[in-house]
Amino acid sequence: MELFKNLIGGEWVAGAAENININPSDVSDTVGIYANGGEAQMEDAIEAASQAFPAWRVTNVARRAEILYAVSAELFARKEELGELLAREEGKTRADATGEVIRAAQLFRFYAGECLRDRGDKLDSIRDGAEVEVIREPLGVVGIITPWNFPIAIPAWKIAPALAYGNTVVFKPASLVPASAWALVDILHRCGVPHGVVNLVMSPGRVANALVTDKRVKGISFTGSTGVGRRLASQAVEHFAKIQLELGGKSPMVVLDDADMEAAIAGAFAGLYTGTGQKCTASSRFIVTRGVYDEFVSRLTAKVQSARVGHALAADTVIGPVVDESQLRTNEHYISQGRAAGATLTTGGERLQREHDGFYFSPAVFADADNSMSIAQEEIFGPIGCVIPADDYDHALALANDTEFGLVAAIYTQSLKHAQHFKRHSDTGMVTVNLPTSGGDYRAAFGGRKASGYGPKEQGPYVQEFYTQIKCAHVLG
Ligand code: UN1
Repeated sequence: MELFKNLIGGEWVAGAAENININPSDVSDTVGIYANGGEAQMEDAIEAASQAFPAWRVTNVARRAEILYAVSAELFARKEELGELLAREEGKTRADATGEVIRAAQLFRFYAGECLRDRGDKLDSIRDGAEVEVIREPLGVVGIITPWNFPIAIPAWKIAPALAYGNTVVFKPASLVPASAWALVDILHRCGVPHGVVNLVMSPGRVANALVTDKRVKGISFTGSTGVGRRLASQAVEHFAKIQLELGGKSPMVVLDDADMEAAIAGAFAGLYTGTGQKCTASSRFIVTRGVYDEFVSRLTAKVQSARVGHALAADTVIGPVVDESQLRTNEHYISQGRAAGATLTTGGERLQREHDGFYFSPAVFADADNSMSIAQEEIFGPIGCVIPADDYDHALALANDTEFGLVAAIYTQSLKHAQHFKRHSDTGMVTVNLPTSGGDYRAAFGGRKASGYGPKEQGPYVQEFYTQIKCAHVLG
């Protein structure tokens, strides 16, 4: 089998070791063999990105835009093929995976446009005859560390703006999903990104330490767990690197008595169960007022039971496998925790056998959950929802905010008064009204607060707060 290599300074290089990429839908299927770099290769990548920065930061913005447009065009053109590859390595369905490739293509198209947008301000100085310019400059070398659950969209929404705003990149993808990362970097390389401007270091998790502790790296953008994010950030801040963290969630979805129940069930299903619950934005807590509580539990249970769990590439699959054995064990752990705490499992929660040997798990609903249970407070990252009863809107809001996390919160209601109040008082970075917690819009700011996020938001033009730094020039002509 071909070895897919790391890209350092424009050269494809083998790693210290190799990483065998396994299909979670069928563990007998090897997706590919990928380089596994070590600390020395990370050093080389940082050096290459440092060398490439002076030329890239002054590269004509129209040229930068052309490159990003070309990347976008290739992603659109290859969406089926790359979607299949993504589904094979990560386990989300073909439709979701293809949708994710389209999302990556849209992001590159958007940031191609951002290259051309004017930035900065010009002010009259308070000093006679002088002018003030507020200029946005790139940071320099940025380290991009991405998780396995969105193998192409998250790298796209970090790498595209990093390049648009003039930075050079060292990219360390999660080792569970090297294929999508490699395919994206191959496209960037062939579409004309100059040597050293984007460097790929597929490597084990520990190698990220060499990236975040290196003084040449001026910014770290990380998406992943809260625990890892906290550690990486404290290392990066030692040398005052800028930090952007997108972390865990335990997102609530509030359903009031007056909700459109059809929409609420669809929103609950889309928000949590698609993608096998493996989303930081997953609505893993359903907080439902008592008038519709029983109806919600029985309809959600029926909906979840009817969803076919199977091979990510099979046409009738609604929910694919979980990503690996370790995630399967985590899911099982929380099923026993929920049971022991006294919640009622209405469906699911078991390993499943399918035609191929894979990491299959039946999606689960816990009724009669209490917000203080570990299943309601800890991020599971699996298809396990808990339904928590609430007395009224005020109680529901209090429960929604009673969590260490603050990524996104949804409310399903026909009441403008409650929707407006929720929008203002949810202690989260994002709120949705009659829409699922996951999904989003690449033109809007993405990110959370509390233990869910730290530093400037991602996506849209807002991410320039991370990928640029301000300089003020005071000029007397
Ligand atoms: C989505 O809700 O579609 O890691 C995206 C995650 C998030 C991305 C969620 N950063 O799950």
